[in-house]
Formats: sequence, C-alpha cells, structure tokens
Amino acid sequence: MNVLVTGGAGYIGSHTCVELLEGGYGVVVVDNLCNSNPESLKRVQELTGKSLKFYEGDVRDEALLRKIFAENKIDCVIHFAGLKAVGESVAIPWKYYDNNLNSTLVLTKVMEEVGMKNIIFSSSATVYTADNEMPLRENSRTGNCTNPYGWTKYMTEQILSGMANADKEWGIVLLRYFNPIGAHASGCIGEDPRGIPNNLMPYITQVAVGRREKLSVYGNDYDTHDGTGVRDYIHVVDLAKGHVAAVKYVAANKGCEVFNLGTGTGYSVLDMVNSFVSANGVEVPYVITERRPGDIGTCYADPAKSAEKLGWKAEKTLDDMCRDSWNWQKSNPMGYGE
Ligand code: NAD
Ligand code: WQD
Repeated sequence: MNVLVTGGAGYIGSHTCVELLEGGYGVVVVDNLCNSNPESLKRVQELTGKSLKFYEGDVRDEALLRKIFAENKIDCVIHFAGLKAVGESVAIPWKYYDNNLNSTLVLTKVMEEVGMKNIIFSSSATVYTADNEMPLRENSRTGNCTNPYGWTKYMTEQILSGMANADKEWGIVLLRYFNPIGAHASGCIGEDPRGIPNNLMPYITQVAVGRREKLSVYGNDYDTHDGTGVRDYIHVVDLAKGHVAAVKYVAANKGCEVFNLGTGTGYSVLDMVNSFVSANGVEVPYVITERRPGDIGTCYADPAKSAEKLGWKAEKTLDDMCRDSWNWQKSNPMGYGE
C-alpha cells in the first residue's frame, strides 16, 4: 500500500514517513521545501534503511500532482503541506489562505479525477473556540478563530466534510493535533524552525543549547496551578503513529471523521521548563513577561474517541518528550542547516 505524503519533509511529516516505512508502506513525498530541508528525507531513509520517492514541488501545481498520480499507484494521501506560523498569518493573511486552501482544493480535485478518495488532513486544536469546557471533545464548539491560520484549518475541515457529505466514496479523517513536541529517539530528525521559534519547546531547546539568552514565559496570571499556560503536549512519534492508525481507518471506512490527537494531560509552561531541566541536567534561564496576545489559559484533549475508533493512544511520557527534544537539539545545534 502506497501513501502520498504532502509536506513530508517537514517536522511531523518526516516522523510520519519513518513510521510508514517501518510499517511496510510505500512512501511518496511531495514538498516544495518552503519550510524544510531535504536532509530530513535523507535521514529518514538512513534511519529506516528503506527508500522513499521524493518530488520537489508545490501541491498547488495541478500538473505535478497529475504526474505523481500517473507515475505511482497511490492508495491514501496524508496532507501535511501547509504554512503554520500564527503571527505571520495575521501579517500576511492572503499567503495563508492561498497556500493552505488552494493546496487542499487542487489536491482533492486531482484525487477526484483519478478516483482515489482517501485523505487524512492535518487539522489543529486551534479550531476549537476559546470558551469550551476542558477537556476538548471532537464535538466541542469550533470556529471564532483568532487568526487566519486557524481559519484555514477550520475552512479546510468544512470543505472536506462537505465533500464527504456529497460523495459517499470519500474516506476522510480530520486529525486535530494538540501540541506536538519531541523528536525521533535517534536524534537524527526533529523540529528545525526557521528564525526565532514561535513555539515553546524549540525555544527552550535553543536557550539550553546557547542560541538564545533566555525564555520569556508569557504570563503567570492565568487560572492554572502555577499561573502559566497549560497545554496538551504530545510526542511527535506518538502523533506519527496516530497517522498510521488513520491510514488503516480510511482504508476500512468511508465518510468524514474527526479525531483529537492529544494525551489528555495538560502541563504548564513552568512544568515544561522544570521537566526539561531535570530530565536533561541543563539550565533554562527564563523571565516572566506579559501574556502573548491571542493565548488562552488552558487547552487539553479528551483522546477517548481516538482510542476507541482508531485504536490509538499516546504512550510516551513528558520525560521522553523532554529528553528526545534535547537529544535532537544537542546533536544538531543548528538543525539541518549544519
Ligand atoms: P512544517 O512546516 O515542518 O511542515 C510542513 C511542510 O509542508 C514543510 O516541509 C513545507 O515545506 C511544506 N509545504 C508547505 N506548503 C507547501 C505547498 N504548497 N506545497 C508543498 N509543500 C508545502 O510543519 P509541521 O509542524 O510538520 O506541520 C505539518 C502540518 O500539521 C501543517 O499543516 C500544520 O499546520 C499542521 N499542524 C501543526 C502543528 C504543530 O504545532 N506543529 C499543530 C497542529 C497542526
Ligand atoms: C505553548 C505555551 C505560550 C513560547 C500553537 C498554535 C496552534 C498549534 C500549536 C498549529 C503557551 C507559552 C510559548 C514562548 C511561552 N499550531 N510560551 N514562551 O500557542 O498552544 O499553539 O502551536 O496548529 O495553532 O497556536 O503553542 O508552543 O506557542 O505555546 O511562555 O516563548 O507556551 O504562552 O502557554 P500554542 P506554543
């Protein structure tokens, strides 16, 4: 069985390629490398001892997609390709709507043409409204997104579920990720953000390795156990395994289903700093600063539906996440750029 992985050179995509190859799937990747380095795919192949096929190009390029489907017998698509920087999406919204919406529209148009209608989409916990009770269930309220990035995820969910409604041949899985962190235990692949990291864990690892002076903790006056923001951090390898479970699910089920991929446990920013320091024996200097605009106090998943219907559950601990994030960063201080 062959899986087309769009955005496969990126952080979550590269870890998913490893799990797919190890699970015996054939892997074809299309990525325009706008936020990744082809070195990740080289390492995926070295790690697994298996090869994959790589097409460098844009998912919005209809002719390229037709060529990929003509040259390969694809059974399922995992659609990671997209832009994900929340702040940039506020500054340059058109770029986000164009990339994230048109990539899905062109991809599904070509899938429809070739009659291959199984797709797994990278959605996000960001689609849930801020006023929900915790934990978030798949039927919790969605919408009222606070930034264009979030709207692209919300709109793509609407587009795909509408298509499944209209044509019963589609098998669609919408995966709402919580906060992916960590790296492959080998330390060979990991998250390699360009510029100043937006997310907590890459910022922590860059402080620990000496690339940044100190972490700014965005607010300590939230209604949480220590006042800092609480999130559901999930190991990227667990997340990758969730995609393999979803590939099996769409092979057996039509229609559109949505699943949370989270652990069900929330940790605060200071929990994360303290766990990182004690797991790795390194210092992470920090200062408390103002809240970051758009942030909420607490966000964590109810992962029960994924356990029941996908047969998937996150297994790795917070210690694993902190150790593996550090193992990747200290072995690759400048990411793949070295
Ligand atoms: P990433 O930036 O590391 O990977 C995305 C990949 O897609 C990159 O390799 C990039 O070069 C490629 N890409 C982007 N636009 C493309 C296009 N038009 N054509 C071809 N390739 C293109 O990001 P990631 O963290 O691996 O995220 C993967 C997906 O998961 C994204 O859709 C993201 O929005 C979603 N997601 C990520 C998180 C997170 O915190 N990392 C959380 C929820 C959802
Ligand atoms: C986590 C916590 C911050 C950085 C974002 C996107 C979301 C999803 C995942 C894609 C918060 C605090 C952070 C720092 C800090 N992406 N923090 N200092 O905001 O939960 O989610 O990434 O879909 O859409 O919004 O993740 O890692 O940015 O923040 O104190 O330098 O860490 O305030 O409490 P977030 P994050």
